[in-house]
Amino acid sequence: MTTRLQSLPKIELHLHIEGTLEPEMMFALSKKNNIPLPYKSIEEVKEAYNFHNLQSFLDLYYAGASVLVGREDFFSLTWAYLLKCKENNVVHTEIFFDPQTHTQRGVNLEDVIGGISDAMKKADEELGISSYLIACILRHLSQEEGIETLKSLIPYKDKIIAIGLDSSEVGHPPSKFKTLFSLAKQEGFLLVAHAGEEGDSGYIWEALELGVSRIDHGVRCTEDAKLVQYLKQKHIPLTVCPLSNLKLKVFKHPSEHNLVELLRQGLCVTINSDDPSYFGGYMNDNFRLIVENFDLSEEEMVDLSVNAIKASFLPQNKKEKLMQQVQNFKNVTKS
Ligand code: ADE
Ligand code: ZN
Repeated sequence: MTTRLQSLPKIELHLHIEGTLEPEMMFALSKKNNIPLPYKSIEEVKEAYNFHNLQSFLDLYYAGASVLVGREDFFSLTWAYLLKCKENNVVHTEIFFDPQTHTQRGVNLEDVIGGISDAMKKADEELGISSYLIACILRHLSQEEGIETLKSLIPYKDKIIAIGLDSSEVGHPPSKFKTLFSLAKQEGFLLVAHAGEEGDSGYIWEALELGVSRIDHGVRCTEDAKLVQYLKQKHIPLTVCPLSNLKLKVFKHPSEHNLVELLRQGLCVTINSDDPSYFGGYMNDNFRLIVENFDLSEEEMVDLSVNAIKASFLPQNKKEKLMQQVQNFKNVTKS
């Protein structure tokens, strides 16, 4: 199964580029940019990654992101992630970034978007990996601040496919951003939002009211049978992140995760890595956790990639090409 898992073409739809910052790069950039970190060594960073909830993770995630300053830093970060995609046989990825995490520190938006986009272009040309960029609004900040950020993103419309919503969920429901999401839609952006990670199923209903195409996480949908039926009937994808959910104690044990239950009920669930440097694994590790704990069949493993192709923002012709790659994988006789 491990070699089959490696060769399955994978599509990632929930990945925060700031969450791919490995401790080694964090230390190197801290030194280069003269930005102090609250850790003495790489080992100390790794020891600190012992989270008890979303906020305890976010505090370290924002502290880590403070070492990213210049265009070249955003390029290096993104290029390193795209090399991991190659290793994990991820053939298409839709990458989140948090503009406010950087602009609030005085970093130029042009450098953030420019550095990330340069790496994405290089990966397309040299690694054959396609990608899109999604700008997430920080929900712990005000809607007004979010709208200012949205306005600053308009000149980069050609580089950004969608607007998302992330950061501290509880206390910051999707309805707080109704005007912002309506403006983003008018500007032609697609919409996604984190909901139902720590927030209850009501947050998912609210995200749907904003007009999102996908729900990021959404695992708390199982608290509401009507919602599960709705997600199924409307084919609303959930971008689920198993290792993240375990590290942030959304589920206590891998066997308690509800991804496979939702898959077997016919929902469009997908597997993703969220913040792989902080949660202990990239795409293959997230797939492996589920495959091994639930005795997933090869057909079900393939369904997860098919779901992700359908849920992606790729045009129909590109989706068909990826479907063909998955079909080719299925046609290879098992050794
Ligand atoms: N930002 C980065 N990772 C996140 C997550 N899992 N939930 C909310 N905001 C995030
Ligand atoms: Zn996330």
